[in-house]
Amino acid sequence: MSPDAGTTDRIAVIDFGGQYSQLIARRIREADIHSLLLPHDTPVDELKDLEPKGVILSGGPASVYGEGAPTVDEGLFSLDVPVLGICYGMQLMSHLLPGGDVEKADKCEYGRATVTLDTGTALFRGVTGQTECWMSHGDRVESVPDEFVVAGETENAPVAAMADERRFLYGVQFHPEVTHTEQGQRILENFAYRICGCTGNWTSKQYVTEQIEKIRKAVGENQVICGLSGGVDSSVAAAIVHEAVGNQLTCILVDHGLLRHGEVDEVRHTFEDTFGMDLRVVDARDQFFNRLQGVTDPEEKRSIIGEAFIDVFEEEAERIDGAAYLVQGTIYSDVIESGGATNASTIKSHHNVGGLPEQMGLDLIEPLRSLFKDEVREVGEELGLPEELVWRQPFPGPGLGIRVLGEVTPEKAGILRQADAIIREVIADAGLQREVWQYFATLPNMQSVGVQGDERTYSYTVGVRAVTSEDAMTADWARLPHDVLDTISTRITNEVPDVNRVVYDITSKPPATIEWE
Ligand code: XMP
Repeated sequence: MSPDAGTTDRIAVIDFGGQYSQLIARRIREADIHSLLLPHDTPVDELKDLEPKGVILSGGPASVYGEGAPTVDEGLFSLDVPVLGICYGMQLMSHLLPGGDVEKADKCEYGRATVTLDTGTALFRGVTGQTECWMSHGDRVESVPDEFVVAGETENAPVAAMADERRFLYGVQFHPEVTHTEQGQRILENFAYRICGCTGNWTSKQYVTEQIEKIRKAVGENQVICGLSGGVDSSVAAAIVHEAVGNQLTCILVDHGLLRHGEVDEVRHTFEDTFGMDLRVVDARDQFFNRLQGVTDPEEKRSIIGEAFIDVFEEEAERIDGAAYLVQGTIYSDVIESGGATNASTIKSHHNVGGLPEQMGLDLIEPLRSLFKDEVREVGEELGLPEELVWRQPFPGPGLGIRVLGEVTPEKAGILRQADAIIREVIADAGLQREVWQYFATLPNMQSVGVQGDERTYSYTVGVRAVTSEDAMTADWARLPHDVLDTISTRITNEVPDVNRVVYDITSKPPATIEWE
């Protein structure tokens, strides 16, 4: 089942490794148009099969003359599909098309610049003639390819934009996708709507309708199983599949003893009581803690938890007669991160719960595979999932197991769970849930001396981690108000036995990661 085929208008973004490539795809989606990020070496026939209404060539760090510089199949320009080259993408067009010329610029141009645009060009219709834009380039186009005209200039770039309106080929040296380019969204929308003829039919409602139809067709009379973790992605995936095939779906929640406070009850309440789903909760706490006994290495812990999860899940799934499909809540950033959508190297394979279906002989249903996190949330809302679930912060598969440093024991997991619940409550009371990307407790493997009720104590330290982020690839520590931190600290030391110290993690990512293990 391909989530990407169908009747939706689509723009393909060809990725040359630029830092803003994903952002281009997002901006197009913000205009209610589906976009896909594709590796630059995607064969042109494959591209054609996707029936894009337009193609955007992204920026990238290379020089078109550099050794091994990424390029595209030149057949792209004969597809009769509009093309917009951005930065490197424009330089590549000039390099590949006859008559064009790219040279090293005397002066690099980084940051803000004022660009003068030819507003008679369809790409710049409705844009003010002189506008602020964001530049980031060393090379520049010296002469435009045959049939092109210069459609914009800056002080350092005589060709800041170019167009061949007869063939619907366009290039901009600046980055319309970043917010510093004042009219950038307008320019991208001009490309998508005016030039490519997109109609803006990429809405969560339309998406849900299409997916339901596809799932029904694929599944037929078969049974489907889904591993629920209580997280946003698996919940939304389960809800969409349930909408499609009703009680042919059985959900399994593995309680590994490393879930957050109240999580099992909340999942039960939402999926069993509200949605009437067939939900099986497997109490596997003993099995997980037994397997984790004496293990301190973070990677080993992760793999033990992963393997134990598969074992428990498989055993439970075998009890479901006729199961032929497995639902997974894979989302688009997982696909991109694991190198499935671009040539990017695998960053952390353990983030993706792969491997499960191959062993089980089940076909996969991944109804969220082409959505970014914010779009998953929109779809969740569309399906009527409760707000607190849809807006829940990300929670890693290995759960509290990678937040208890060192050996994980039921006692330590219990302490952490209590401290974590307090942090979540205080952040919610302060109304900060949506401002902070993730906020949680960690239990470093350390005890220190304190004094509580006039008595000397030798107890655990709890670490508080709260970060702001766009996509978890980078993050900054959240500047939580001091009184919020104070309440967290006071409540944890008063309410959680065996804790006498609370510290706040003030490291960004990089150099740290969000999770401590
Ligand atoms: P790091 O710690 O690498 O985390 O900065 C980035 C984001 O990924 C989440 N995370 C995971 N999610 N399985 C998951 O599903 C995992 O094994 C895992 N490890 C980290 C983390 O919570 C953060 O949002």
